[in-house]
Amino acid sequence: MVQNLQAVSDSQSEQVRESAASGQAYFDRIMAEDSRIEPRDWMPEAYRRTLVRQISQHAHSEIIGMQPEANWITRAPSLKRKAILMAKVQDEAGHGLYLYSAAETLGTPRQKMTEDLIAGNARYSSIFNYPAVSWADMGAIGWLVDGAAICNQVPLCRASYGPYGRAMVRVCKEESFHQRQGFEILLELANGTPEQKQMAQDAVNRWYAPSLMMFGPPDDDSPNSKQSMAWNIKRFSNDELRSRFVGMMVEQVEVLGLTLPDSEIRFNEETKMWEHGPLDWNEFREVLAGRGPCNAQRMERRREAHENGAWVREAAAEYARKTAAWSAEAAGVAS
Ligand SMILES: [Fe+2]
Ligand SMILES: [Fe+2]
Repeated sequence: MVQNLQAVSDSQSEQVRESAASGQAYFDRIMAEDSRIEPRDWMPEAYRRTLVRQISQHAHSEIIGMQPEANWITRAPSLKRKAILMAKVQDEAGHGLYLYSAAETLGTPRQKMTEDLIAGNARYSSIFNYPAVSWADMGAIGWLVDGAAICNQVPLCRASYGPYGRAMVRVCKEESFHQRQGFEILLELANGTPEQKQMAQDAVNRWYAPSLMMFGPPDDDSPNSKQSMAWNIKRFSNDELRSRFVGMMVEQVEVLGLTLPDSEIRFNEETKMWEHGPLDWNEFREVLAGRGPCNAQRMERRREAHENGAWVREAAAEYARKTAAWSAEAAGVAS
């Protein structure tokens, strides 16, 4: 019965799609209603390309983003910290996998996305090309980098492409655990010895500006944003999100008893936006172009991991081939 109802509803929705004057008209209506596009729906090629680019970049960022923190798992100061950090890094692997799966529904295989990354033809977030030099960086990364990721990603839960929005719901829940664990590391250090407090402050100083740049270039230098907003993928501009993030950090840094390395932060009563000091966009472009402090190292590790994992992929493919053959054989026997 449930299956029949499902079949009726499937055929109804097929009819709706077919009776639309054209795919474009259907797509435009979905956009106007702020509803969702699903994998089998018609969509403009540019929308599909934009999503594949954005979702795969996002997936690559999760996977490359495991590296600065994975470096610290063996050096975490206690068993408890080790377990928490390991769980956090594993979460990031999971985020990468949900996102590759979401991108695959648009017709691009994960293998192709991985090959593009390994060949240096795909981008990932510039932030992960900075080194994590002390244990306090684990705190600053969780608090600032995962904090910025949350600001960016919560609105993406309402992205017009269904599989992307749904993946983001779970990702965001896990990101808030990541931010709290980072905040807690910093809080403990800030309440420790003067040297520990200084370590925490230095880490915040290092990660503050790069985390603000995670929101992307200023609005007047962000050519794709307008189209992404028209397609209900992006809900707020880069500068709006950055301002919101600064406002959050201003409150939280007081609880930490630390400071943000920016004397120009202020709330603009007229625009109702938080403002911050100038950011070095030249540095941002350099890092994006592959000339950041750790770009080469991150890519080398990723290539190594891919090569070392070849036997796992081969074994999985062989297992899938055998399972399919056994099923086919069993079906043959039964009929
Ligand atoms: Fe993540
Ligand atoms: Fe995270």
